[in-house]
Amino acid sequence: MVLSMKNKTVMTFFRVGEGECRLRLTVASDLHNSPYEDILPLIREACPDAIVVPGDLCGALCEASEPGGEVTSRYIEESRKNDVGFAFIAEAAKIAPVYCSVGNHEVSVSPSNRARYTQAGAVLLDNSYVRLGDFLLGGLTTGGAHGLWHKSNAPDLAWLESFARLDGRKILLSHHPEYWERHIIGMDIFLTVSGHAHGGQWRAFGRGLFAPGQGLFPRYTSGVHRRGEQYLAISRGLRKETEVPRINNPPELITIDIMYN
Ligand SMILES: [Fe+2]
Repeated sequence: MVLSMKNKTVMTFFRVGEGECRLRLTVASDLHNSPYEDILPLIREACPDAIVVPGDLCGALCEASEPGGEVTSRYIEESRKNDVGFAFIAEAAKIAPVYCSVGNHEVSVSPSNRARYTQAGAVLLDNSYVRLGDFLLGGLTTGGAHGLWHKSNAPDLAWLESFARLDGRKILLSHHPEYWERHIIGMDIFLTVSGHAHGGQWRAFGRGLFAPGQGLFPRYTSGVHRRGEQYLAISRGLRKETEVPRINNPPELITIDIMYN
C-alpha cells in the first residue's frame, strides 16, 4: 500500500433516500481556521441548495476577556485565528445559504461571536432549528470533548428529544458522529451530518486509526452509514495542517443528494 500525505481537498458525493425530489447539501466540516481557497471552487461546482458546517469551523468562541473554566490555552490560541473561519463562511454564503452548528472547539459562543455568524451571512444553529425547503434542519450543540481519550460528554438530550418529536422530515447537524449510535438511532431523524473524527487521521483498508470520543479503530469516521430508515453522513474534515499528519486521508468536502417525495 502506498502512503499518501496529499493535502489537496477532495469532494465526495453521496445519495440517500428515494423519491423524485432532491435537496442537495454540501458539508464543510472541521475547517479549524485553516486555508480555504481551494475549497470554494469545489463547492461552486457542486451547486448545492445549502452549505452546512457541522462544527469546528473556528476555535473557541467565548469572549477572550472572560474565558470559561474549560477553555485551555490551545482553544485561546485557536480563537485568535477565528477571522479565517468567519471569512470562509462569508465567501461560502455567496454560493448558497450557510448553516452552522457548534463543535467541541467552539466552546461557549459569546453574543459578539454569535453576531459574527449573522454578519457573515450564515445561520448558527445552537440547539435550534430552521425550516429548509421540505425539511427541518437542526443543529445539536456539542456536549464537549476534553482530552483525546475521553469519551465525549452527552449533548443536550432534552433539546434533541424535542427536535425529534417535531412533525416533518428532519436533518440534524451533530458535530460528533458517535452521538448517532449513542443518542440518535431510534429517533425520528432522517439524516444526521457529522465531522469531528477527521477521518481517523491515518486511514488504511477503508478505516481510520483513531478518533476522539471513539478511541482506536473507530467505527464512524467517514462515508454514509444506514440503520433502518436513518442515515449518518460523515465528512473527513477540511483542516490540512495538524500536529499529526493526515495519511491516506486528504481533506474532504462531501455533497449529499437527499431524495424524497
Ligand atoms: Fe471536533
